[in-house]
Amino acid sequence: MSGEPIREIVPRKLTDEQAAEELAALASEIAEHDARYHNDDAPTISDGAYDTLRKRNTAIEERFPDLVREDSPSNNVGSPVQSKFDKITHKVPMLSLDNAFDDGDVADFSASVRRFLNWKEGDPLTFTAEPKIDGLSLALRYERGELVSAATRGDGQVGENVTANARTVKDIPRKLSGGNVPDIVEIRGEVYIGKADFAALNVEMEAAGKQLYVNPRNTAAGSLRQLDSRITASRPLKFFAYAWGEMSKLPADTQFAMIEQMAAWGFSTNPLTARLESVEALVAHYRTIEESRAGLDYDIDGVVYKVDDLGLQGRLGFASRVPRWAIAHKFPAELATTILREIEIQIGRTGALSPVARLDPVTVGGVVVSNATLHNEDYIAGVGSNGEPIREGRDLRIGDTVTIFRAGDVIPKVMDVDLSKRTAKEPFEFPTVCPACGSPAVRPIDEKTGRADSVRRCTGGFICPAQAVEGIKHFVSRNAFDIDGFGDKQAELFHELGMVMNPADIFTLRERDKRSLKRLENRDGYGKTSANKLFDAIDDRRKIDLHRFIFALGIRHVGEGNAKLLARHYRDADTLLAAIDAAQDREGEAWVEMLDIDGFGETAATALLDFMADPNRRGVVDALLTEVTPNPVEQVASSSPIAGKTIVFTGTLEQTTRSEAKAVAERLGAKVSGSVSAKTDLLVAGEKAGSKLKKAAELGVDTLDEQGWLDLVASA
Ligand code: IVH
Repeated sequence: MSGEPIREIVPRKLTDEQAAEELAALASEIAEHDARYHNDDAPTISDGAYDTLRKRNTAIEERFPDLVREDSPSNNVGSPVQSKFDKITHKVPMLSLDNAFDDGDVADFSASVRRFLNWKEGDPLTFTAEPKIDGLSLALRYERGELVSAATRGDGQVGENVTANARTVKDIPRKLSGGNVPDIVEIRGEVYIGKADFAALNVEMEAAGKQLYVNPRNTAAGSLRQLDSRITASRPLKFFAYAWGEMSKLPADTQFAMIEQMAAWGFSTNPLTARLESVEALVAHYRTIEESRAGLDYDIDGVVYKVDDLGLQGRLGFASRVPRWAIAHKFPAELATTILREIEIQIGRTGALSPVARLDPVTVGGVVVSNATLHNEDYIAGVGSNGEPIREGRDLRIGDTVTIFRAGDVIPKVMDVDLSKRTAKEPFEFPTVCPACGSPAVRPIDEKTGRADSVRRCTGGFICPAQAVEGIKHFVSRNAFDIDGFGDKQAELFHELGMVMNPADIFTLRERDKRSLKRLENRDGYGKTSANKLFDAIDDRRKIDLHRFIFALGIRHVGEGNAKLLARHYRDADTLLAAIDAAQDREGEAWVEMLDIDGFGETAATALLDFMADPNRRGVVDALLTEVTPNPVEQVASSSPIAGKTIVFTGTLEQTTRSEAKAVAERLGAKVSGSVSAKTDLLVAGEKAGSKLKKAAELGVDTLDEQGWLDLVASA
């Protein structure tokens, strides 16, 4: 990532061309962050910075309404559902909330409600105000008082069926108590993990030598979406009820009374919920909640205001993706002032030089902060990734007084510098050699843009000890080999001791240890039992899923998603390696086949081939394969008519979507490819199919229309 741009929100001087360009960039940037947040539960920017991106997008769209894109972030709420859980279609869509960022936005909200209802200034209007819980939303369906299903929000229309997991959450009643229970009751609310429980969980992780969880929200999301509900049961999940979906009968006629009814049925409801009569009272309640924020045992990121009268809510209804009767008043990113003592350069697994600010410790939102990310060289110099000045060109120097901010529970960032307090005469000199290995560190020029990459990289590759350690940490990380008792600390220790210089060494550790003069069991922190436990944990991973194996190698641009695409396509390690060797010839068929894997781009393919062309790295892969056996990807559903077939979709599908059709095809064991070739078994052509249909006819490839496809898979 090139770092978080701090953008001005109001677009002042933009030409049509610049606006269109920026809207396109924002659409893809926001979509990427949405996917990281919703699919991977691993956001890489703060909530505050994300909101800034969305606000900037809306502001440009308002100024340039003709340029609003079809894929505009304003048109979508969340991220498409993934396929590992069954799907549940929400009877009432689960929508998002519009945001207010300051008191003026709250006044505008109240005014727009009045305008819509054709009400005058003085007409009394009651709102509820309650904390916005930073967790993930869940819809719970009760039939005749019994919990029958639980679904995540998903894309707002279709969520994931997590019923078995929801049943393990203590705050979620299996049966509604008290009377007044309609036949169908759907309660919505937020699943979260409390701060104290989260801290305790990380103490356990630390003791087990495992990687720590990043924040309560992602941990809650990850915990709820476990395929094994025993894991969910072991996590301290909680639930606050605040809304509802389908109800056969509404038991009350105000928001506030609905919340009281939910409490009577046995749900936890938020004690800071209030009923208020004016914008001033809303804002005052917001300040009270903001002040108590650090002392609450759960994370909140704002206050939600809702029109209290349900009749009015009904009249106000929804504007595309958000209700007109509610708004979320977000907390600003929390700020603090401190001194920048040092800029340390860390080297990542792929050689990126990442500057980290060492700060005089300062409390921000109840947390003591002494480090902050500085992203990259340009960020220190005060230049954004697009070459535009940030902080109006003010650079950062050692000794500077800086403002830092923290939004949500993410890594703090340096926002600004106070030039009046500057003592350093010279700008910070970013190293041009790697501090770990002394190799030149360079910023390659992007061929497409002609601009230098924002990231400076060590060219030492295999010889760089810092890259090696980071590579080992990645190799053993949770979504890679996940070796019990082998975390970051052990990676550093074993590398320093010369015991594990690359991932392949991990698997010969036990044998080498037997012959070693200083056995692991005699080292600090180890005994006979713990050393053996570690070796056993390593042996446990000698068989591993192919996609984990690929991901663990730590190849640039080959994250979990791409690793899965490769595994699904090539199915076993030998076939994959043979294909990589053959694809080194960029003129040949193997290269074309690789680029044809739907969703696997040229950047990743090039990075994969470059990695494997390095004899040192390839040597490690070969050595690993003598110790580890990646499980081949099973041919699923061999009875399905499309198992093992290569399918291409083209044209517009009317009854299904391209993503759904693709997911169905893959579930039934087919490969989906992007272009028609002699290897294509079937072309599914929707409306307005063009050149691919023609090519399929030329090659004699079987073709089906959309209905034909639906019939084919319906029988599978
Ligand atoms: S009301 C029709 N109330 O915020 C909208 N949402 O940004 C119903 N959230 O998807 C939502 N606390 O996950 C509501 N007290 C609260 C909330 C809350 C957290 C979440 C919820 C929603 C998101 C919208």
